[in-house]
Amino acid sequence: MRMSVIGCGYLGAVHAAAMASIGHDVVGIDVDEHKVAVLAHGTAPFFEPRLEELLRDGLTSGRLRFSSDMADARGSDVHFLAVGTPQVAGGHAADLRFVDAALESLLPHLRRGDVVAGKSTVPVGTAERLAARVDETGATLVWNPEFLREGWAVHDTLTPDRLVVGVPDGAGGAGAATLLRKAYASAVATGTPFLVTDLATAELVKGAANAFLATKISFINAMAEIAEAAGADVALLADALGYDTRIGRRYLGSGIGFGGGCLPKDIRAFTARAEELGRGEAVGFLREVDAINLRRRDRAVQMVVDALGGLVFGRRVAVLGAAFKPFSDDIRDSPALDVAVRLRGLGADVVVTDPAALANAEAAHPQLGYAAERDDALRDADAVVIVTEWDEYRRDLTPEHAGSLVAGRVIIDGRNCLDADLWRAAGWSYHGMGRR
Ligand code: UDX
Repeated sequence: MRMSVIGCGYLGAVHAAAMASIGHDVVGIDVDEHKVAVLAHGTAPFFEPRLEELLRDGLTSGRLRFSSDMADARGSDVHFLAVGTPQVAGGHAADLRFVDAALESLLPHLRRGDVVAGKSTVPVGTAERLAARVDETGATLVWNPEFLREGWAVHDTLTPDRLVVGVPDGAGGAGAATLLRKAYASAVATGTPFLVTDLATAELVKGAANAFLATKISFINAMAEIAEAAGADVALLADALGYDTRIGRRYLGSGIGFGGGCLPKDIRAFTARAEELGRGEAVGFLREVDAINLRRRDRAVQMVVDALGGLVFGRRVAVLGAAFKPFSDDIRDSPALDVAVRLRGLGADVVVTDPAALANAEAAHPQLGYAAERDDALRDADAVVIVTEWDEYRRDLTPEHAGSLVAGRVIIDGRNCLDADLWRAAGWSYHGMGRR
């Protein structure tokens, strides 16, 4: 099948490469000529496992190409819209400027019978508005939200938990659903559920999924606050809750909370849209979810201060992690960097290290100290704080090795990812979040 993918950011670049890898003929289109050149060279503009391999295979086979000319979308059977929807400056709503601009420039190239499949995360109601414009060309707009996680983007695109396609009423919608089913035939063949809905439901599924995940994380972090006051252990609590098959252990990881380019902005945009619809009170709890999440960052900073006897000014603090989560170089709304910046604000001599996100962190926060190597960050530290649970810190760092480098054996586990007993047995003062 011939496809175009409009917008080659995180979502679009991965989608284009993944679709080519399953045999489609794909052109990725982006207004950013530099990005197009980098991708056309087989290089991923961001850190994502397996992406470069897929890019190179696609480019070599001739099934994948990149362009900055929208006219190259002409002749595709499906046009995926995968542009960004950031938070509006000074507000919580989603900024739809890029979606609107991409669609307007695509319209002159659409043929009767083409399908435009929106993948971007948009406020419910957007698809219906865009569908009216697409209808004028004889093409059909469907909404096909993407649920990929950074670091797992290729895996999640090729083997998603489910596929959702929202279609307009009528014959055009049914035909478009059939075409999308064909586009994803390899996943459908291996049993991936393929759900056909109306446009609004498909848009809502994405917002609701992210809201639920954020709520689950903030729920366990709220329990961490209670555990701290009651002398209980939130990590054990999460294990015990997780065995209940109705609850499940995933997304009950307690610590400094969620960040990144999606969950924080998406729950705010979801709330803003609910308010526009006159149903703000239905999602009032999401404001609480956001507030609980931000409180964990304050708490982590306070724990470092307390562990250092109340004064961090001039003390050396090794900050292990900068990315918002492991297997990513993304520092957007990173709780890890937020904690580092606040400690620096209190006068600590902060040294940040990260296996993938260091360059991004240095560019965004030049006031912080940095070390490319983990051990250089640890050297002479008065306290160590783990804020991103990379394997290099969670699995590979032993208390003995770390102890041979630091000035003081004080560790704050901002991701509850270490074995507290092991570290304590090696003479460390270990502080987990919401743990005894
Ligand atoms: C998320 C959704 O998972 C994905 O479906 C959607 O398409 C985009 O947003 P992503 O932002 O890549 O994906 O990251 P995810 O792995 O979900 O983690 C989000 C944040 O939550 C990270 O900061 C992570 O550290 C944090 N998190 C996750 C926790 O604090 N505890 C957990 O148990 C899980």
